[in-house]
Amino acid sequence: MAAFHSMAAVFLYLGLGHLALASAQVCGMPSVSDRIVNGQDAVEGAWPWQVSLQVDNKHICGGSVITENWIVSAAHCYYGLNISQSRYTACVGEYQLTYGNPNAVCSTIQTLILHPSYTATGDPGDIMLMELSTPLNFTNYIMPICLPSPFVQVPSGTQCWTSGWGHINSSVPLSDPKTLQQVMVPIIDRSTCDAMYHIGSTVPASTQIILSDMICAGYQAGGKDSCQGDSGGPLVCKAGDSWFLAGVVSWGDGCAQAYRPGVYTLVTAYNSWIKTWVPDVTFQPYIISPIPSSNIKITMSAFSFFLPFLLLLCLNAF
Ligand SMILES: *[C@@H]1O[C@H](CO)[C@@H](O)[C@H](O)[C@H]1NC(C)=O
Ligand SMILES: *[C@@H]1O[C@H](CO)[C@@H](O)[C@H](O)[C@H]1NC(C)=O
Ligand SMILES: *[C@@H]1O[C@H](CO)[C@@H](O)[C@H](O)[C@H]1NC(C)=O
Repeated sequence: MAAFHSMAAVFLYLGLGHLALASAQVCGMPSVSDRIVNGQDAVEGAWPWQVSLQVDNKHICGGSVITENWIVSAAHCYYGLNISQSRYTACVGEYQLTYGNPNAVCSTIQTLILHPSYTATGDPGDIMLMELSTPLNFTNYIMPICLPSPFVQVPSGTQCWTSGWGHINSSVPLSDPKTLQQVMVPIIDRSTCDAMYHIGSTVPASTQIILSDMICAGYQAGGKDSCQGDSGGPLVCKAGDSWFLAGVVSWGDGCAQAYRPGVYTLVTAYNSWIKTWVPDVTFQPYIISPIPSSNIKITMSAFSFFLPFLLLLCLNAF
């Protein structure tokens, strides 16, 4: 409900003669809305902001549509690859990459903006903006994702989704007809994620692996994750009726390994940088309710269940 109120506040604010009422209303709202929670194949049109970033017409990365002219992706989808900008195309409205799709359009890249902080895997700033040579016409299959304002925080445990045509496991490419894949990944807070990445690592505990411009999502046990080829693609969360871009698929240690959840570039860390290059973009003040306390109770009751056994073990040790 809190999220609904904040949405209403946005529309009120925009209604006072400010910019981009139309784009605020259309972003983040697919016309297809049913999706299968445990499924893998997405429904066509469910993630209409999804971009297939291609080099010589081969998919290499994901991306997200943010306006008619601009997409956001990851810096590492260009940086250090020594591939000229002219070989890149951004395709939207795609579903099964093996087949041509009447809803899809591809555009070459007119302007490519890399975040200057990014120079290697694990660096801050793994984010890139690309201006399309041909502006998009939005359809049921092509729509922008909303962007959150800087103070928006997505609580740990929030069920967010990532999508893409990347590998289905480390070095296992998606097989034909290459249907867009989706997976639900709960948000993991930065300090928990950083602690997980230090397990079985030689990096000293005092050295942060998960930086302040990163957000993690996935499972401690592994098994579900984004993977190679998903890079640059969306991590989206829902507030009220609308989806917003919480993260950009950035890196991980392998895919879906235990204690190695997916790491995403935190979009709210780059609002002003995005605004510099894409002045007509708007940011929306979502409020995400914390996860219901029943989850916490489960942890607590499990703890109180095990506590006597732990004490017994201690006693036995003496
Ligand atoms: C970059 O690519 C060009 C053209 O393919 C090639 O001539 C050059 O050697 C490459 N540079 C590096 C550093 O790989
Ligand atoms: C968008 O629509 C205009 C007008 O119908 C058309 O000229 C243009 O080619 C369309 N652009 C794309 C990318 O489909
Ligand atoms: C992914 O690959 C790893 C390592 O090869 C394997 O242990 C795991 O079972 C695979 N996962 C799936 C879902 O196939």
